[in-house]
Amino acid sequence: MSRLRSALAVAALAGALASPSVLAQPAWEDLGRAATDAEVQAWDIDVRPDFTGLPAGSGSVDDGMDLWEETCTVCHGIFGESNAIFTPLIGGTTAEDVESGHVGSLARGDHPGATTFMKVPTISTIWDYIYRAMPWDHPKSLSPDDVYAVTAYLLNLADIVPADFELSNDNIAEVQEKMPNRNGMTLEHAMWPGNEFGTGYIKPDVQAEACMENCADEPQITSEIPETERNTWGNLREQNRSVGPQRGADTTRPEGKLGDARGPVKVVGPKDRAAGGASARALELIQESGCAACHGVVRTMIGPAYVDIAKRYPGGVDYLTGRIISGGSGDWGDVQMPPQDISEADARLIAEWIAAGAEE
Ligand code: HEC
Ligand code: HEC
Repeated sequence: MSRLRSALAVAALAGALASPSVLAQPAWEDLGRAATDAEVQAWDIDVRPDFTGLPAGSGSVDDGMDLWEETCTVCHGIFGESNAIFTPLIGGTTAEDVESGHVGSLARGDHPGATTFMKVPTISTIWDYIYRAMPWDHPKSLSPDDVYAVTAYLLNLADIVPADFELSNDNIAEVQEKMPNRNGMTLEHAMWPGNEFGTGYIKPDVQAEACMENCADEPQITSEIPETERNTWGNLREQNRSVGPQRGADTTRPEGKLGDARGPVKVVGPKDRAAGGASARALELIQESGCAACHGVVRTMIGPAYVDIAKRYPGGVDYLTGRIISGGSGDWGDVQMPPQDISEADARLIAEWIAAGAEE
């Protein structure tokens, strides 16, 4: 190939690579279509603190009360005070708070829990939240007028507006001036847009100087449980979730002994199993397969303790293997053990460990 031709060939190849028609997957442009303005608008329902996006409309405290009782009471209580489903919406605010814009009970800590109206600084947030998310079981089922009405009712419950009040897009800015915690929110933190690193960066609200040398005063953080109380609440290890790295201390043993969460977790692989680590592997399988949610080794939980099963079926490997896979009920009580999604080999390994006495 002449130099000129090879140069052309390279150029053609480079051109081919750079050309989108060659690189692009075939026919993607046939898939989907641009969303129409109307579709975008149907999703674009956010209401901002300056009320950008707020639909026009109005609703009275009275209408709001009717709607509240029909639609919201089941979960939030008649006066928004229920904590059955969620923390209370109403309570903990005073006339002085409406005056000052700072919720005193937040600083004093004398109200149990923080209700919605104690925390939220902006009425737009309440309006927006109800409009997009409530009622929980039928979100986006309320009209703008419904949301004005039910918001007016909540404002009345919180003693922010009188009982004959009608809330609308025209007077909502005045209501904002009465929100109990309107001055309780600071924008002087690193998470507010504009304050991030490299812009008008503001330090996070936890401020400490890192000591890099001669740090004699550095605090030592420790925690301890008296040995006598170690197992008071049952074996923590068996109560831990069976997913994730947390194992929990084995509180049936003295601290620092095998199984303590603070010691290294011993991972037993096939090699150890060949060397006689079968019980360790069985215990691992019990964790991995979710059995630990219902069974403790020595503690009766939803299902019987393994040591008790072991006493009932000494040597019953085949039977136990089948029962682990099929589940069942009636042998220990009325609660059913669901069938387990576990291989026969793994079920057998656990069954062998149980049938041999379920020793840890
Ligand atoms: C089926 C139960 C249920 C119903 C009915 C219901 N809510 Fe809620 N509401 C919840 C739950 C649960 C949350 C918290 C949801 C979350 O944080 O994800 C919540 C949160 C809220 C919040 C925000 C509170 C906060 O501090 O974040 C408001 C305001 C609210 N609901 C108002 C209403 C109104 C108004 C109605 C009636 C139109 C209503 N809810 C109906 C269950 C319900
Ligand atoms: C959702 C809870 C739950 C889970 C998960 C669970 N079990 Fe059970 N298990 C039970 C209950 C409840 C019983 C008692 C059933 C009965 O009364 O017959 C039981 C019984 C048993 C028995 C005794 C059966 C008999 O015939 O006496 C064995 C063995 C057993 N489970 C092993 C396991 C193993 C191994 C796993 C994990 C692979 C597991 N279980 C997962 C709840 C559970």
